Amino acid sequence: MTATDYDDFAAAYAASNESGLFNAYYERPAVLSLAGDVSGRRILDAGCGSGPLTAALRDKGAVVTGFDRSAAMVDLARRRLGEDADLHVADLSEPLPFADAEYDVVVASLVLHYLEDWSGPLTELRRVLKPGGRLIFSTMHPTGYAMDNPEADYFAVTKYSWDYVMDGQTVWLTMWHRPLHAMSDAFAAAGFRIETISEPPPAPDTPAELLPPDKGSGRFMCFLFFVLEPV
Ligand SMILES: C[S@@+](CC[C@H](N)C(=O)[O-])C[C@H]1O[C@@H](n2cnc3c(N)ncnc32)[C@H](O)[C@@H]1O
Repeated sequence: MTATDYDDFAAAYAASNESGLFNAYYERPAVLSLAGDVSGRRILDAGCGSGPLTAALRDKGAVVTGFDRSAAMVDLARRRLGEDADLHVADLSEPLPFADAEYDVVVASLVLHYLEDWSGPLTELRRVLKPGGRLIFSTMHPTGYAMDNPEADYFAVTKYSWDYVMDGQTVWLTMWHRPLHAMSDAFAAAGFRIETISEPPPAPDTPAELLPPDKGSGRFMCFLFFVLEPV
């Protein structure tokens, strides 16, 4: 189980992210809703990928910096956002190339579940937030792991892998399951408190044919969303 490297399937991921249920109609609308009015705000998009959220936040008037560990994903983001976009290749597991208290908001969509250790990354994200700022992030819902792996130990931070078809390309994703208490412990250790935990429905404009069948409410267990505030 080697670490997932988005350089290996950047274009396929970007294409599936653009219009697929989980990103376009669930994760991204949910983060944008949690972010609210961002006009004039300085935002850091951690693990920005090909930049769809960066672009949406910029369209809403924010001044956005993005970074990603994958150079191929950053290239795609630059193509979308323009040569002068503030984009960096950087690893969330290492010290970040940004000043203290530089951002009003940090967003981190679907990136933290690739990391075994959250303490250094969360400490870095807190460092770059202004006092009164917010960290908004999504991660794999730990209950989903428990339901899919009934034999596994829910309470242990555990590496797991699964294959996923993206735009016709089958890719092997390796992530870290993290139980809820371990998330909460990591928030407290990094100096955050929870403002919001969200398990939102998909966006109202989700095409019916994209929704899983047999879910009368239209809701499904997939990602968990947090808004954290520096203490
Ligand atoms: C599921 S994609 C999400 C991309 C983007 N946030 C979005 O929602 O469209 C995860 C992204 O996290 C990036 N990533 C994974 N580990 C990372 C790390 N340690 N530091 C920075 N980026 C990382 C990947 O390269 C990939 O672009």
